[in-house]
Amino acid sequence: MSYLVPSFTTNFSGPIIIVGFGSIGKALLPLIKRHIITTAPITIIAPDDSNRHIAEKYGAHFLHMALTKENYETTLSRIIGDQSIRSLIVSVSNEVSSKDLTRYAAHHNAHYIDTVVEPWPGFYFNNSLSKSDQSNYTLRESLQSIKKELEGSPTAISCCGANPGMVSWLLKEALLNLAKDLGRDVPTPTSRKEWAILMRDLGVKGVHIAERDTQVANIPQTSGVFQNTWSATGCMAECLQPAELGWGTHENAIPDDGHNHESGSKTAIYLDQPGGVVKVRTWTPTEGPHFGYLVTHNEAISISDYFTIKEGDTVTYRPTCHYAYHPSDATVASLEELFNERAGVHQDEVKIFTEDEIVSGADELGVLLYGHEKGAYWYGSRLTIEEARELAPHQNATGLQVSSAVLAGIFYCLKHPQEGLIETDEMDYKAALEIQRPYLGKVYGAYTDWKPNQETSVDDAWQFSSIRMTE
Ligand SMILES: NC(=O)c1ccc[n+]([C@@H]2O[C@H](COP(=O)([O-])OP(=O)(O)OC[C@H]3O[C@@H](n4cnc5c(N)ncnc54)[C@H](O)[C@@H]3O)[C@@H](O)[C@H]2O)c1
Repeated sequence: MSYLVPSFTTNFSGPIIIVGFGSIGKALLPLIKRHIITTAPITIIAPDDSNRHIAEKYGAHFLHMALTKENYETTLSRIIGDQSIRSLIVSVSNEVSSKDLTRYAAHHNAHYIDTVVEPWPGFYFNNSLSKSDQSNYTLRESLQSIKKELEGSPTAISCCGANPGMVSWLLKEALLNLAKDLGRDVPTPTSRKEWAILMRDLGVKGVHIAERDTQVANIPQTSGVFQNTWSATGCMAECLQPAELGWGTHENAIPDDGHNHESGSKTAIYLDQPGGVVKVRTWTPTEGPHFGYLVTHNEAISISDYFTIKEGDTVTYRPTCHYAYHPSDATVASLEELFNERAGVHQDEVKIFTEDEIVSGADELGVLLYGHEKGAYWYGSRLTIEEARELAPHQNATGLQVSSAVLAGIFYCLKHPQEGLIETDEMDYKAALEIQRPYLGKVYGAYTDWKPNQETSVDDAWQFSSIRMTE
């Protein structure tokens, strides 16, 4: 099969280690082989052999094992060997601690990239933890607590997937588009503060990470099996975590079941409900108005934090930000089964749809900026399964949006080698999108006069209480 291959390459001479080789790992490897000219071996670490043949097809060494808290240092050091040569560790695994791997990489001359702030096992699916302790806010705060310690060490990028990840780059491009369409002649901001001032001055009250996945597979729905277009295990875990959202300054009142955290940046709140049962109203261009699940995600917190403006200790501006995720219809059915028929007990079997099993559909994923003069503006990527198949092997549309973001992260590390621990909000969005764009299908924007609640006055339309559908 021949692919519509974007041709750009860079060189990397150190060892590359990919931890986890599921839907994203197997999607990433062909992109690395295509765009990075390597001289040292690529090693895959995963405790299951299901994609081993793909690793071997691309000449990677496959290590059949699980990384654990006890073995990760010795295992990684054995693979890396001579630490005078810079290496690269990418974690696309569930339940391997991002914090421990980030710190390890910094102290062993390695770049590090992941797509989620992952904990070691015992965090998700653990009913004995308080809701605050089980939140992404807590995971992020814990990781950010080592940012200072890692200043100037090899660049490590936290949460560099599609979302979290790419959406933070799209958001900056969306803000500049909005400024232009509102007739504002503004220079491109050059600092975090300037970006936040731009968002505030454009009148943006909040941002949805609005995603509608319409991919459909030729696999029947089977009870007891959680189906998805990316990690079914990861999706179940985050849908069972408490719903979380970055909490904006335009909000009148915190929900009855909402709570502030007691320490840290206090950028976000959490709800008593798991994200998989909290439905919100949202909008994407192809689908129009629809519901999404308010699933907790790192970017809801990092974006709200990044765009916060403070005068002294007082927060004067912050956008509300949350995920509004309408997964594939099969995933919606799996979620309904999990929360209704199974009363919140997760399924034991999982199924991720491959590019060969998906017969139609697209992943439309972007940012919806609302509350400004023009109402709401969605900007993002619409990638169909047909386009994904034409662009690269071993991935569906969702997988390619994620793996190409990781690729952009790798290029960033090589160009900016000593930035320590950063989030995608802090990266050069333009350079990142330049790498990723050829893999994103149609990247476009659309305005809408849709409002979450047509009954409320213009001022109140964008309160979270109007956006939320279910208690
Ligand atoms: N930011 C984003 O846009 C985004 C999107 C999709 C997935 N993700 C995240 O990427 C990660 C991978 O997703 P996926 O769809 O490939 O998941 P997957 O379930 O398909 O694969 C997970 C892989 O990790 C391996 N693994 C599990 N425990 C391990 C351990 N202890 N050591 C080494 N390997 C281990 C599994 O064997 C499997 O190969 C997850 O954390 C997921 O949440 C992020």
